[in-house]
Amino acid sequence: MQHDGAVAVIVVDNPPVNALKHEVRAGMLENFTKAAEDKSVEAIVLTGAGRTFMAGADITEFGKPMKPPGLSEVIAAIEKIQKPTIAAVHGTPLGGGLEVTLACHFRVAAPGTRLGLPEIKLGIIPGAGGTQLLPRLVGVEKSLAMILSGDPIPAKDALAVGLVDEIIEGDLVKGAVAFAKKVIAEKRPLKHVRDLDEKIAPFRSHPDKFNEAAANVAKKSRGLEAPLAAIEAVRAAVTMPVDDGLKRERELFVKLVGGEQSKAQRYIFFAEREAAKIPDMPAGLRPREVTRAAVIGAGTMGGGISMSFANAGIPVTVIETNEEALKRGFDTIQKNYQISVQRGALKQEEADKRFSLLKGATSMEAAKDADIVIEAVFEEMEIKKQVFGALDKLAKPRAVLATNTSYLNVDQIAQITKRPKEVLGTHFFSPANVMKLLEIVRGKETAPDVLATAMAVGRKIGKVPVVVGVCHGFVGNRMLSPRQNQAERLLLEGALPRDVDAAAVEFGFPMGPFAMSDLAGIDVGWRIRKALGTRNEIADQLADMGRYGQKTGRGFYIYEKGSRSPINDPEVEEIIGAASKRLGIPRRQIDKKEIVERLIFPMINEGAKILDEGIAYRASDIDVIWVYGYGWPIWRGGPMYYADHVGLAYVRDQLAHYAKVSGNKSLDPSPLLTRLAAENGSFASFGAKKSAA
Ligand code: CAA
Repeated sequence: MQHDGAVAVIVVDNPPVNALKHEVRAGMLENFTKAAEDKSVEAIVLTGAGRTFMAGADITEFGKPMKPPGLSEVIAAIEKIQKPTIAAVHGTPLGGGLEVTLACHFRVAAPGTRLGLPEIKLGIIPGAGGTQLLPRLVGVEKSLAMILSGDPIPAKDALAVGLVDEIIEGDLVKGAVAFAKKVIAEKRPLKHVRDLDEKIAPFRSHPDKFNEAAANVAKKSRGLEAPLAAIEAVRAAVTMPVDDGLKRERELFVKLVGGEQSKAQRYIFFAEREAAKIPDMPAGLRPREVTRAAVIGAGTMGGGISMSFANAGIPVTVIETNEEALKRGFDTIQKNYQISVQRGALKQEEADKRFSLLKGATSMEAAKDADIVIEAVFEEMEIKKQVFGALDKLAKPRAVLATNTSYLNVDQIAQITKRPKEVLGTHFFSPANVMKLLEIVRGKETAPDVLATAMAVGRKIGKVPVVVGVCHGFVGNRMLSPRQNQAERLLLEGALPRDVDAAAVEFGFPMGPFAMSDLAGIDVGWRIRKALGTRNEIADQLADMGRYGQKTGRGFYIYEKGSRSPINDPEVEEIIGAASKRLGIPRRQIDKKEIVERLIFPMINEGAKILDEGIAYRASDIDVIWVYGYGWPIWRGGPMYYADHVGLAYVRDQLAHYAKVSGNKSLDPSPLLTRLAAENGSFASFGAKKSAA
């Protein structure tokens, strides 16, 4: 605690993010109590040292017995203080950090601060008054939006809704002390957030508003428990006296934090951060500076990738073979920005600013100033090689050369150049401006600082980058392939597309494998299989008939014009029935449990092979890939986490059983799965051992 005249300044200092661990809570309680009792102190400022004000509870303490004082106790003590208390925030005051500020009478913020309640992303709700106090301060609708999205809001929005009282330019603590002195001099009435009622009163007579919100959330939450609990807690803020509401919030919080969903979501939080760590990088390695990018190709992928750079404020040159293709690409980008503006997600001036960072060109020469070049042309080796041959001649000496490929061998592409060290793969997911996952494919010769640069750029453009090794389909698509094979095999053995899709959706995926094929285009896999000389019985027959999925109005399902809702098609059922007959496969009733296990366990088996081969550094990287790239339900923690959870011996035995039932050798348990299951081991411990090595 420091003193500036009659103002006491309490500084929380717990790097890196001032998480509210036990010592921080105890220190706050002690210092607030001291300052409250000290007659020479007339006001108290609370601030955080380092890069941010408190970014919330210490997540590593969850699931363990809480050492007193609890955060609610600290908050209750602050609320009782009868001298002005001012939270001076910067960086990311989040979760419990924001809740502490709600116990203060005033809040001031540095420009650039982002304030939020991200608990929902960890499978919990705010547990120290957030759901009760925020609605009283900023209103019910704004609170629901913040609590349900978990996304922070910028300081200027916080000022507009009354979450902060002033934005302080310049030195934050000096400004906060000056603010405190003004409050003392003006004898401003002290605002106790818990006593406010004006913004929640109108909702008391409108319980239907909550029911509407709950129904909407239930539809979107795909099995998540926390969003519904959050609505329930905010409803309590409106319908109950504040202390009862706080009790209700606590009950809901305690139940969630001890549950399996939050455990899985916390695992993913740390898995995402672990993925940023590459085991064999030289110490002190610095990424190269990237101030300009070039993207070759303005198609769906190239356009989305270019937008990702522009969105992060990095100027990007988009290169196409001719003006017409370039115009088509730019029109789509413009349209995408307009949709965001219309939806209210982006201000027009921000959209214009981003669009202005995109420059078009029809000559490869235009890539010569770029620090990173991402090739996003057609997925064909020969075309990619031509592009890299040309890039090798004109790109600047230390430019990072990346190929956006979903399957192709990055080493072969690198070998066409005289600088294979500068080459790697960047596998973006469609739509590339939206999807968070970025697989970074490390080639045999990729230089460590080139890899570090790609990781840093990935994070800068808002992605979750995960390093993977070279193999057909890398991690995500390689694991998708056995799932898709089994989905098709289930059709031949007796299921229908709607049975398989319904089981996948019930498990928690946003859509089933056949609805996904229809969305992505059945022709994509068909072309790849043609090139490989393999064939899928049903999918390829549909593609032969020109049934490519949504884009042709017919695929595994029928789509009415302008609609994305799948309708069952008796013709497809006939095709499936005929195929079973032709192949001599007896049709039988297949239950949901078998469908789910036949879809999921072969993926896990492939994941085990990927780990064994060192294509992924750790099991948690595979989980991050599936959660961020393929809609794996986050509350189930990813396929490898799920496998550890249900038990590796069970997964092994079921795979062996299904291999027998369906006469399908590809289902045989992999050596690593077999070994770990026999040792009573887990993928988590295998991955940890590998990354420590
Ligand atoms: N608890 C424990 N560790 C945390 C943490 C937390 N709340 N927040 C971040 N960390 C750790 C990270 O794991 C990371 O550790 P390593 O360097 O060892 O990997 C380190 O702090 C830095 O974090 P980032 O790499 O994420 O740094 P960043 O600058 O990119 O992001 C951040 C900073 C925005 C604060 C981000 O870390 C974040 O979103 N943290 C979580 C915030 C959160 O969810 N808070 C709510 C907690 S729940 C709660 O508060 C409940 C309640 O009601 C009491």
